[in-house]
Amino acid sequence: MCGIVGASAQRDVEPILLEGLRRLEYRGYDSAGLALVHDGGLDRTRAVGKVQALADRLAEAPRPGTLGIAHTRWATHGGVSEANAHPHVSTDRIAVVHNGIIENFEPLRARLVDEGYEFTSQTDTEVIAHLVESHLGDSDDLAGAVRATVNELHGAYALAVVCRDAPQTLVATRSGSPLVLGVGIGEHFVASDVAALLPVTRNFVYLEEGDLVIMTPARFDILDGEGQAVEREVKETGLSISATEKGNYRHFMLKEIYEQPRALAETWQGRVSTDDIFASSISAEAKTLLEGVDAIHIVACGTSHHAGLVARYWLESMARIPCNVELASEYRYRDPVVPKNCLFVTLSQSGETADTLAALRYAKSLGTGDGGYLATLAICNKPETSLTRESDLVLMTHAGPEIGVASTKAFTTQLLCLLLLTGMLERDAADRRALAGDIHRVADAVERVLELDDAIRKLAEEFVDKDHALFLGRGPMYPIAMEGALKLKEISYLHAEAYAAGELKHGPLALVDEKMPVIAVAPKNDWLEKVKSNLQEVRARGGKLYVFADAEAGLDTGPGITVLDMPHVEETLAPIAYTVPLQLLAYHVAVAKGTDVDQPRNLAKSVTVE
Ligand code: G6P
Repeated sequence: MCGIVGASAQRDVEPILLEGLRRLEYRGYDSAGLALVHDGGLDRTRAVGKVQALADRLAEAPRPGTLGIAHTRWATHGGVSEANAHPHVSTDRIAVVHNGIIENFEPLRARLVDEGYEFTSQTDTEVIAHLVESHLGDSDDLAGAVRATVNELHGAYALAVVCRDAPQTLVATRSGSPLVLGVGIGEHFVASDVAALLPVTRNFVYLEEGDLVIMTPARFDILDGEGQAVEREVKETGLSISATEKGNYRHFMLKEIYEQPRALAETWQGRVSTDDIFASSISAEAKTLLEGVDAIHIVACGTSHHAGLVARYWLESMARIPCNVELASEYRYRDPVVPKNCLFVTLSQSGETADTLAALRYAKSLGTGDGGYLATLAICNKPETSLTRESDLVLMTHAGPEIGVASTKAFTTQLLCLLLLTGMLERDAADRRALAGDIHRVADAVERVLELDDAIRKLAEEFVDKDHALFLGRGPMYPIAMEGALKLKEISYLHAEAYAAGELKHGPLALVDEKMPVIAVAPKNDWLEKVKSNLQEVRARGGKLYVFADAEAGLDTGPGITVLDMPHVEETLAPIAYTVPLQLLAYHVAVAKGTDVDQPRNLAKSVTVE
């Protein structure tokens, strides 16, 4: 969701900015643009659609300039149009790119209009450009003007600003939206994400809330929210360029589905021995802290929320700890009752989801005494994010960079981390040992499921002309059915809903006829016989069933029912293993329908606005 790249160098930066934008495409966007400072002027180019459309426009006449800012926009205020695309400029002197939402832009806009500024877009961002211009006045203190501007803003922002009169200086600042500073040799960069700058540097400063950076090719200075000069550590990233590229795969999503066995292995290794699961792998104090946990609240959005819903079954049935799971966008606006010794857990692949972050901040605001939480734990796939920095404890999912907007390996590694957490809270040593044994087999289980890929590709052809689909599951497989429906919706634009199979007769059965495909997940567990009865209810109404079932479940393909035999997996691993065929199904349906698999319409990978 909105991507920023900026550079101050001693070479032309247009190719660096364009490559950076390409590497941010995965975040989701609908238009792109860049501005270069050159020869005492600002040169702005924007285009609706893909970064390639911007690149095509620039290819007609490559622009010189050693200082520049660029942006991919995901529309919030104002429709998708070239006029609303960033950068926004003021009096051909100031150019700004912005990620986030300025909540008080309307009164600011009215004031600026009174002052004579002319607006050419419907965005909230344009006020920033004019405010910087008005604060700059006759001075040459661009950083001071940016600071004065952000002091007037309410809302979330990451900003990069350049001025025609300062041909080497880029000023950037953040509050509530991510921004990293890339440190090169004789050149400096900013971006929303490390991945954008990997071709030009491996050294980064992760800017903190309120930080403002002033950079030229020769140096950078950081001021904190109080305006005081601060030193921030420059860290070398472990991320490789190849990890952020498609390789031989047609889509990132398929690559990421296939990376799951390795991602899962990397997530448990070092945390689980042959007979135990170690809380100390989180941190030294985590072990003592987890011993005092009597309840858990899990808060997340989207796919991450589905992982939380599965964990509730595990935490209650195995560790016997009461667990409540809630959407962050709901949780943050109600007045939750916090039980004693309750651990607050957030789940997020990006670590920057605005609602999840706001929920964490709310949870922390309750303090640690009566009515507050014992501690906060973030389960996250990205290091150095707002969520990981602001949580007491962090359990990383080592999935590696996930570029496809539809989350796959981040989800299954979240599930594994939640299984690890369950094991850490499990007080019975024999049960912990059994769980540790299961976890050792997770990568192998997923590897075997991937062998069904061809069969699922063929199956997907039957969905291409469908408009709707129902997904069914019971127990911990119910949230997996929800995740399967979400994947299909996200990338193939097919309307899909998930139901706990026992709920079928309470409404959705009315939808079932020969045009309604019904997909069910049926591993061998305590719910299997109940699920089979629910499937009979569908068959009796002429519904077409597609069942991913344990090879030993006793279900066979026949009239109206197609059964795909899943390899037998341990009950605890079933939610992870059965997610994979649903990911593959959504992927192949989307490919067959010709949709944009990795960047589905209207969606963003990192949702940094409310
Ligand atoms: C976006 C992504 C989803 C993700 C959700 C929550 O909508 O497209 O894939 O599940 O945000 O993101 P998070 O980073 O907090 O897991």
